[in-house]
Amino acid sequence: MSTSFVPYGVIGNPIAHSQSPWIHAQFAKQTGINMTYEAIECKPDNFADTVKKLRKQKYAGFNVTVPFKHEAFELADTQAPRAKLAQAANTLAWQVPEGKKKAILYADNTDGAGFIRDLMFTAGFTFGGEQVLLLGAGGAAAGVLGSLIAVAAAGITIANRTKEKAQKLVENHLTWSNMHSVALHACSLDDVLYENEVNQSLPEKYALVINATSSSLAGEVLTIPTSLTKPDAMFYDLMYGEKAKPFLEAAAAQEFRHRTRDGLGMLVEQAALSFALWHGVRPNTAPVLAELRAMVNAK
Ligand code: ATR
Repeated sequence: MSTSFVPYGVIGNPIAHSQSPWIHAQFAKQTGINMTYEAIECKPDNFADTVKKLRKQKYAGFNVTVPFKHEAFELADTQAPRAKLAQAANTLAWQVPEGKKKAILYADNTDGAGFIRDLMFTAGFTFGGEQVLLLGAGGAAAGVLGSLIAVAAAGITIANRTKEKAQKLVENHLTWSNMHSVALHACSLDDVLYENEVNQSLPEKYALVINATSSSLAGEVLTIPTSLTKPDAMFYDLMYGEKAKPFLEAAAAQEFRHRTRDGLGMLVEQAALSFALWHGVRPNTAPVLAELRAMVNAK
């Protein structure tokens, strides 16, 4: 077995506070795989050149984060179906196709599957004909929608400040949602916040509310009227730590038995799936999440 360390990394901007290098170091230790993994800051207009340059330095793969996920998807020679659905990639890998000598760049998106694994296997949420409310229609929402459809919620409402973007996201997922008999509905965020048309047309109340907006970065708190949600609804913010708090605390403060969860588990799960794609080994996520949770809480 070779003892040389193969370089990997995460590319984004900003990237200094990324937890991914720490997470992948734990996975490498756990599985005995020789790799390095570092945070790589890239100028907004320099993504393709950065990837090319690092490939020359023998990098074997990358995670990609804001704002480069769409560009990573476009740059790749071939893309996984789930990356095509999202039109975005969070994982790049050079792979040699069977019968060929030259490696090509493969793009995948493990965000949605990572989200579902955390929601169902770690948080214990079960889907049984549930209605889901997805807030936001940007990159984060697109990353999870395909996987949500695949686990067959009965219906998903996508509510976005700019309604047209929610409609576009629905359009992009129509074939996939029809295959899974999941009804998709687009509306404006105000329709939800002020209980307009959504309330009337909904067969059941929402059992799961996902915040995929960046509203908390703008200091805004999204509070969903309790008339729209089940008493024990799960509120999940795709961000973690302090950034997830405004949305989750607002839900917890409502006089319901709301469950709340931030995106830290999703972060670890999507990393584990990228790791598995690169190395063929799926690491154990539970101890890594427990330690990371303690670190984030201690900050
Ligand atoms: P990301 O990759 O984090 O999803 P993005 O693609 O820029 O980033 O998407 C940000 C999302 O948050 C969008 O759905 C955006 O709504 P618009 O499409 O109307 O811009 C939403 N968003 C950002 N600020 C918001 C705010 N203050 N209130 C509500 N939604 C907000």
